[in-house]
Amino acid sequence: MSLNIIGMGKGIPKKQITNGEIANYVDTNDEWITSRTGIQTRHVCTSETLSDLAATASLEALENAKLTVSDIDLFICATIGGELRTPSLSCTTAEKIGLKCTAFDINAACTGFAYALEVAVGYFAMGKAKNILITCGEMMSTQLDWNDRNTCVLFGDGAAACVVTPGDSMRYISLIASPDSTILKIPVGTGNTPFLESKVDEPYLYMQGQDVFKFAVGVCDIEVSKALETLDLAPEEVDWFLLHQANKRIIDGARRKLKQPEEKFPTNIEKYGNLSSVSIPLLLYEMIEEGKVKTGDTIVLSAFGAGMTAGTAVFKWQ
Ligand code: ACO
Repeated sequence: MSLNIIGMGKGIPKKQITNGEIANYVDTNDEWITSRTGIQTRHVCTSETLSDLAATASLEALENAKLTVSDIDLFICATIGGELRTPSLSCTTAEKIGLKCTAFDINAACTGFAYALEVAVGYFAMGKAKNILITCGEMMSTQLDWNDRNTCVLFGDGAAACVVTPGDSMRYISLIASPDSTILKIPVGTGNTPFLESKVDEPYLYMQGQDVFKFAVGVCDIEVSKALETLDLAPEEVDWFLLHQANKRIIDGARRKLKQPEEKFPTNIEKYGNLSSVSIPLLLYEMIEEGKVKTGDTIVLSAFGAGMTAGTAVFKWQ
């Protein structure tokens, strides 16, 4: 027994920024960003807080699941960082929506949704929960150096949520961590301690893009192939491959290795940029809203991110 997803929601900030507008802040242009990444626009928070977005996504997921906050036994948020170091994003969001149950955050960077799904399966196996709310929320705009064109063009802000219950729709899940804190990291600030003896990096995202690129394409290929082999599925039997939306060229690279047509690899990176843990559940939400996902479809989710981490899940949709 694993889980079924019974309702999903999203929370997206109002302000949308085009590639052209980013050129007001750093030396870049639409042609470079579109051709190297596939990104055309992204949304960023102005008046919204991260827990506002997470609350909006959570309430919509509950409504779509036909449940209320009192039905939820466990609340997991996946995030690189909430609006506060503490309390957690799960607690600040729970406060806004009137949810009172066990609540904690998971930080597995862009792989956070897959990690949360695995934790939910564990709670169901222990018999400690019947309905679990999983909300992914990221405010990447506050984690970037807006003077660094290598990174600030890539990300956006948003949230996506789902309610899960015990079931057998998720047929496979596998998580890995391959620790490396050199190629992708966001240092924390050090406050005003007078005691630190060495200088630390500013609290912005640092990335060696080409190393991340190689890790992403390689891990997608290996982990998706392992999942299909375990389930005795051919790539042709998969209806949808929902890959982490970090870069359209990464998605194309993984697709070529799997030798599958482009139509099976939907994207939303062009609208939102890289939303870290939010990318995959938001893409799934949109596909359900658009009526693309049908009962019985086989869906592969493949995420990768800082850590380095990766997670793969396969659903037979119910
Ligand atoms: N606008 C214009 N020029 C730029 C920009 C920009 N925004 N950013 C970099 N350049 C320039 C560089 O300065 C460099 O110029 P130079 O040749 O004069 O030195 C040139 O473009 C090429 O830079 P590269 O870094 O080699 O470009 P590359 O083709 O590798 O693309 C990118 C960079 C898009 C980051 C790519 O490496 C990539 O997609 N990596 C994957 C990482 C990723 O997607 N990370 C997202 C977060 S991680 C995650 O979600 C797991």
